[in-house]
Amino acid sequence: MLKRKLGINIDHVATLRNIRGNTFPSVLKAALVSLSSGADSITVHLREDQRHIKPNDVLLLKKKLNKPLNLEMALTKKMISFAIKVKPEFVCLVPEKRKELTTEGGLNLFYNLPLLKKSISKLKSFNISVSLFIDPEIKMVKQAIKLKADNVEIHTGSYCNFLNNEDKNKSKSEFNKIKLAARFAFKNKLGVHCGHGLNYTSTKNIRTIKEISEYNIGHFVISQSVFDGLSNVVKKLSKIIKN
Ligand code: PXP
Repeated sequence: MLKRKLGINIDHVATLRNIRGNTFPSVLKAALVSLSSGADSITVHLREDQRHIKPNDVLLLKKKLNKPLNLEMALTKKMISFAIKVKPEFVCLVPEKRKELTTEGGLNLFYNLPLLKKSISKLKSFNISVSLFIDPEIKMVKQAIKLKADNVEIHTGSYCNFLNNEDKNKSKSEFNKIKLAARFAFKNKLGVHCGHGLNYTSTKNIRTIKEISEYNIGHFVISQSVFDGLSNVVKKLSKIIKN
């Protein structure tokens, strides 16, 4: 049976830290608490504008953690060089727009093809497992296979929004898209990850798609921690995903 894993995205610990321009709360401590509470990996998104995670955070996490680090980043030459310097276990390529509040959709795998191809093979040559963040569309999965990615991370953001807004028809249809894309990717030997907008309820639902092996969850974890504490939230999500 596929072992399901939980990745905790700690970007918003850095958001809180940066508000006061100091060192508290510590992203390293948040990562260590998450890992000791059941997380299998830590995810950070180093954005071009460095609005939360900074390059030094990534370097420190890579040095101190004894579990995989998943670096989310845009497809730019500068970021690829940085990733090769840090050598995280995973890189997840995501689209990035400067003014967006958060990642708004999957990466268009038909755009910027020469750089995309070259970057994937370069990262892989440094033993970095490459994941492509995609919308739940078969054509994107097919392209990820062609590009020889190791994994796809299926964007669950639209599904979660429909679910939160109690739009049953749209959430059902988006859920089916995720299921079909996950099955197709799995059959074609890609690792299937998912993420964006997940909370307890949506994770419980997505968890029924048995082809998905990894869940990357951030904003909800840090927000719910205000009420319940980071360790309790990670433990609860870990239980939902792994039981
Ligand atoms: N996966 C990817 C590729 C993302 O860009 C993000 C947001 O940084 C997440 C997962 C986590 O999303 P959320 O913070 O909504 O849980």
